[in-house]
Amino acid sequence: MLQTVQLRLGHPGDAPAIGLLAHRVVRRWILPDQPPEAGQALLARLGTRSLRERMLAGQRFHLAWTGEVLVGIAAMRDDSHLVHFFVGTRHQGRGIGRRLWQRAMRDAVRRAGTRRFTLNATRCALPAYRRLGFIATGPERPSPHGILSTPMALVAPSAARARA
Ligand SMILES: CC(C)(COP(=O)(O)OP(=O)(O)OC[C@H]1O[C@@H](n2cnc3c(N)ncnc32)[C@H](O)[C@@H]1OP(=O)(O)O)[C@@H](O)C(=O)NCCC(=O)NCCS
Repeated sequence: MLQTVQLRLGHPGDAPAIGLLAHRVVRRWILPDQPPEAGQALLARLGTRSLRERMLAGQRFHLAWTGEVLVGIAAMRDDSHLVHFFVGTRHQGRGIGRRLWQRAMRDAVRRAGTRRFTLNATRCALPAYRRLGFIATGPERPSPHGILSTPMALVAPSAARARA
């Protein structure tokens, strides 16, 4: 049976579920391309306590659920920088990432009038980000957290600004 995907804003009580999904996706898709120390630091930032602290500090975690199962995460910092973007391996390629991104973008536009979004793309996610409209703004390099990634940016389409 095809289960519907529901999106909602996360709260600190969701931190354990977010950490579990993020650890699985990061180990499978991101760590193989990363220096080991940067990869371990990324896993630490995705621990329950760090996630809770960042949510309480105002980072917005948009979550996708099928029933009780968390299947996707898009986390926005300062209403302008996409810090985390993960969809569970079995659920990838079915439009969940696009829905999460559109929700996160509209939320930021509505809250802060954001026009330009940024992120640091790991290698395996570059094609998906390009499809979402992001453009590389520099070469691959270690991010401020040491993660090898490509800086990208997107100007919010005027339709998203009008709807917000
Ligand atoms: C990146 C990620 C979040 C995208 O989520 P998703 O649910 O698979 O994405 P969608 O199915 O909504 O696809 C979004 C768009 O990207 C395209 N796309 C996705 N993966 C692609 C790939 N490997 N190559 C080319 N295009 C791709 C889709 O076709 C879609 O475009 P369309 O709507 O115009 O057809 C997910 O693949 C993921 O978690 N990857 C591993 C973790 C990761 O790299 N996260 C980002 C860290 S910076």
